[in-house]
Amino acid sequence: MPEQEAQDLFFPSDEVKAYATVKEYDKTYAQSIKDPLSFWAEQAEKLEWYQKWDKVLDDSDKPFFKWYAGGKINIIHNAIDRHLKTPIRNKIALIWEGENGESKVFSYHALNREVTAFANILKSMGVRKGDIVTIYMPQIPEQIFAMLACAKIGAAHSVVYGGFSAEALQERINDAHSRVLVTADGGYRRGKPTGLKQIVNEAVESCSTLEVVITVKRTGEVVYMENDRDYWFHDLRALPIANTPCPTEVMDANDMLFLLYTSGSTGKPKGIVHKHGGYSVYTSTTHSMVFDLKPEDRYWCAADPGWITGHSYIVYGPLINGATLFLYEGAPNHPYPDRWWRMIDKYGINILYTSPTAIRGLMRYGESWVNRHNISSLRLLGSVGEPINPEAWKWYYNVVGKGKAPIMDTWWQTETGGHVITPLPITPLKPGSATKPFFGVEVGVVDDQGNDVAPGEQGNLVIKTPWPGMACCIHQDRQRFYESYWKKYEQQGWYHAGDAAKVDNDGYFWIIGRSDDVIKVSGYRLGTAEIESAVVSHPAVTEAAAIALPHELKGNAIYVYAILRTGFTPSHELEKEIKDHVAKMMGPIAKPEQISFTEILPKTRSGKIMRRVLKARAQGLPEGDISTLEE
Ligand code: WTA
Repeated sequence: MPEQEAQDLFFPSDEVKAYATVKEYDKTYAQSIKDPLSFWAEQAEKLEWYQKWDKVLDDSDKPFFKWYAGGKINIIHNAIDRHLKTPIRNKIALIWEGENGESKVFSYHALNREVTAFANILKSMGVRKGDIVTIYMPQIPEQIFAMLACAKIGAAHSVVYGGFSAEALQERINDAHSRVLVTADGGYRRGKPTGLKQIVNEAVESCSTLEVVITVKRTGEVVYMENDRDYWFHDLRALPIANTPCPTEVMDANDMLFLLYTSGSTGKPKGIVHKHGGYSVYTSTTHSMVFDLKPEDRYWCAADPGWITGHSYIVYGPLINGATLFLYEGAPNHPYPDRWWRMIDKYGINILYTSPTAIRGLMRYGESWVNRHNISSLRLLGSVGEPINPEAWKWYYNVVGKGKAPIMDTWWQTETGGHVITPLPITPLKPGSATKPFFGVEVGVVDDQGNDVAPGEQGNLVIKTPWPGMACCIHQDRQRFYESYWKKYEQQGWYHAGDAAKVDNDGYFWIIGRSDDVIKVSGYRLGTAEIESAVVSHPAVTEAAAIALPHELKGNAIYVYAILRTGFTPSHELEKEIKDHVAKMMGPIAKPEQISFTEILPKTRSGKIMRRVLKARAQGLPEGDISTLEE
């Protein structure tokens, strides 16, 4: 945080302050951390419970915390069922626009009808409470209906991002032991159909638990359907059973709602588990307070429902709050770079939540594309996924927000379930800082021993108190959950986030980036270990190291150092072949920017690759402490 930037303050206008629901931060925050359980009980009271909890927080099995222990709830009861008893029933829940311009609108009543039908279909395929259904879909309404339908009948969903490869999909289906998969023939991206069903066909060959694939028709391309395994959704939707009532399953507050795979610093992706109770409370509270949601708002979170941002802030938080949400299927620059601004104008969007990568991508086309449209409906902006550079922040603020819409730069993770460090609309903003912790959560920046670092100094970001949105575990791996997040500060009982950060003299948090072997590329989270094993699975490679280097658009780009097997010689063709191989193994987002062939990799004496040294060398920076480097 350069000195001058830390001084740059943007104050909320009187208009913003007058309109804001939450009027005050300091006192409320102090109160909320003095007695967090009362704060979180009060928030939970705003939801409907089938049965009230016995204990707000059961911490008898740390770090496997149980929020609202003994409570009975279903997130769908709050996201849909209870709205049907109020005028929200006839309010628009979802406006969807396809990349090809097609659009669909669903009221809460219609949402309930579609989710109920989907739930009946899943049940008729044998899905029961506690099963895990894998969802692999483009950004179409059925993706959301499928997620909600699982939750309604007490099954958990595991959404796999539609940009992932057959290998990645297969690994996730197998880890979750899914028997049912929901997919589509494809979606549209830059005018072209993306053939999802072909990828599914390839993936499921080696998924022994999988018995049923339900396919939504979106593009109408010819796809192979296997007898007794593959069913078209529209055929099932036409069956009488789809249109019968379906009760929402009564769940324990600590029953699994979903699992979502994300990259860690070692080995295979981790299935992060979230539960009905705490997650409902946390996503709805943060969504309503951070985005200052008003009943008349049209809200657009331009993430993919397949990532945590989509789960918490496209689907669950907004629906619990009875919001009108917008969903767009395709690329931001299709057919022209004004696609987003055109849709904001067309639908009168009031709140836009997106990533720094998307902002940088659109900024590069220049402001004339924005200024063609009337986007004055925008009242509030949001950013998530990676640190936002002050230049992109200012463009977003001035060109998109016209200097009147505050930017909520929200820091959080798949594991935190929702916003942890974030401004509120009344917070004075500093471009590039996520500002301060949300109510009811204590956050710190500490050294390896757990001492607070001095203002302006870099340290490890920790969360010092449990919060209701926290993941409860890694699917079927208690030990890994403890080791990944809790072991480092076991004595203090703090959550170790894996990010490096600083705090300035005003108590503002500045996130620097991952401090572990996780790389954020365009806001997507990838593990160096996964990239390396994809590189090494190419027959020409014997050893590899992946690092992240700064990239103007993507934030970070992947650079790989590879040692070839004897008999192979470095060439541009081989470089291209290995890059394509990684993209095929993991998905296009993981495609390395560059592969450098090398004879040796810097390692510690115990054989660990020193990525830090590679990174410093690549950037021409000092290599730091290399006392552990082997001879
Ligand atoms: C990074 C995304 C800076 C951070 C919701 C974190 C951020 C990782 C911000 C989690 C932000 C997220 N400023 N960095 N506002 N938001 N990050 O699990 O490194 O995909 O640890 O969740 O994204 O990524 P994940």
